[in-house]
Amino acid sequence: MARFGALFCAIVAAATSASAAAVPAKPLITFFTGTDFSGQNFTFLGTVATGCIPLSPPFVKNVSSVEIAAGVGCTLWNETRCGLALGNSVSLPSGGTPNLTVQDFNDQAVAFQCLSS
Ligand SMILES: *[C@@H]1O[C@H](CO)[C@@H](O)[C@H](O)[C@H]1NC(C)=O
Ligand SMILES: *[C@@H]1O[C@H](CO)[C@@H](O)[C@H](O)[C@H]1NC(C)=O
Ligand SMILES: *[C@@H]1O[C@H](CO)[C@@H](O)[C@H](O)[C@H]1NC(C)=O
Ligand SMILES: *[C@@H]1O[C@H](CO)[C@@H](O)[C@H](O)[C@H]1NC(C)=O
Repeated sequence: MARFGALFCAIVAAATSASAAAVPAKPLITFFTGTDFSGQNFTFLGTVATGCIPLSPPFVKNVSSVEIAAGVGCTLWNETRCGLALGNSVSLPSGGTPNLTVQDFNDQAVAFQCLSS
């Protein structure tokens, strides 16, 4: 995981430097503490594949809806190792998921990973 975090930082650093060759980070997923894209939100900027990214407070076990960019799919996990530890997950397609209770994952997510779809 530290490896993925370091890679992400390197990508962000490259994208924000003068380097024109770097793949620019773009919005991949927005998390909302409320249903129907309400409450506090956080948009993760990055490139796919993201690797396993832990959520930060107040989003830890506090996400009720998400919006995912076109061409991207994301899996939410209820443990920080995205499948390397015993846990539950839900895989979501691009577009809006307004009510994670429907997926039985309301206030469950602690980490996520996004891939191109
Ligand atoms: C996210 O929250 C900010 C600050 O409250 C708000 O201005 C923005 O419209 C929200 N974004 C979305 C997609 O709802
Ligand atoms: C969930 O998010 C809301 C809105 O930011 C915040 O008021 C609340 O304290 C958070 N709850 C937890 C358990 O983090
Ligand atoms: C994840 O969810 C499963 C199924 O509800 C549960 O058994 C497990 O304890 C949860 N893991 C964590 C780390 O909360
Ligand atoms: C979310 O889905 C659950 C389960 O279907 C439902 O009981 C609840 O009313 C929904 N909440 C909203 C805000 O639509």
